[in-house]
Amino acid sequence: MSLNRALIFLGPPGAGKGTQAKQIAERERVPHLSTGDMLRDAVARGTALGQMAKPIMERGELVPDDIILGMVEERLSRPDSAHGFIFDGFPRTIPQAEQLDKILARRGFGKPLVIEFRVDSEKLLRRLSGRWTCSVGGETYNIYERPPKVPGVCDRDGGKLVQRSDDRPEVVNERLASYERQTKPLVDYYRRHGVLEVVDGSASIAEVNRALDEILKRAEG
Ligand code: AP5
Ligand code: MG
Repeated sequence: MSLNRALIFLGPPGAGKGTQAKQIAERERVPHLSTGDMLRDAVARGTALGQMAKPIMERGELVPDDIILGMVEERLSRPDSAHGFIFDGFPRTIPQAEQLDKILARRGFGKPLVIEFRVDSEKLLRRLSGRWTCSVGGETYNIYERPPKVPGVCDRDGGKLVQRSDDRPEVVNERLASYERQTKPLVDYYRRHGVLEVVDGSASIAEVNRALDEILKRAEG
């Protein structure tokens, strides 16, 4: 069974988009497309894109729309995206969403299915301060909610766990503000298009996963 559509995970920093997208993408056998991960990869490799994006990300601001859209178009041109994909952290502005509608139409996809993750800001701050990510496979842990078996080491591949430089409290505040200002309007945009579903992202990882499964089953049925 293939997804055959674009699934969009929308929500503030720390809402659990990446955690859930990784699991659902594996189950549905579609790519997990995180624009944040793509940018961090470019920063780590020191490409021209990475050098441009690095200071913007370190301030917790959004990278310009044309850069993001170019990166997404390039990624969608690969064959693994032919049967659907999960966007995590994209689109993040109204112009990105409008352009995505056109890209999807050009590629023969119908309307996306958009899932908003709702979590209060106190919980988001706690999650981000406790997040550690595997530097090899990208698996995400949390010292409060999902600790690795051995501190600092990935359960899956033994990779070293690292903290994201934009998870410092002062940057987190700016990321939350950017979300409210530039990304939250997408909730209304997608509601008006009749494609918005909402999950309670403050529930446990397993409970959120079950809620997403139900939404997907309903959408497929
Ligand atoms: P990006 O990488 O997309 O970061 P973000 O949106 O701020 O979201 P996060 O990755 O912090 O949170 P998440 O929802 O994935 O949470 P996670 O699952 O890890 O973007 C980074 C930057 O890149 C941006 O600031 C911007 O500069 C740039 N950028 C990216 N895309 C862009 C775009 N489209 N346009 C412009 N600029 C762009 O979970 C967090 C923690 O909580 C983890 O430790 C996890 O284990 C834990 N956790 C998860 N779920 C639960 C749960 N249910 N219960 C308890 N703990 C949980
Ligand atoms: Mg993420």
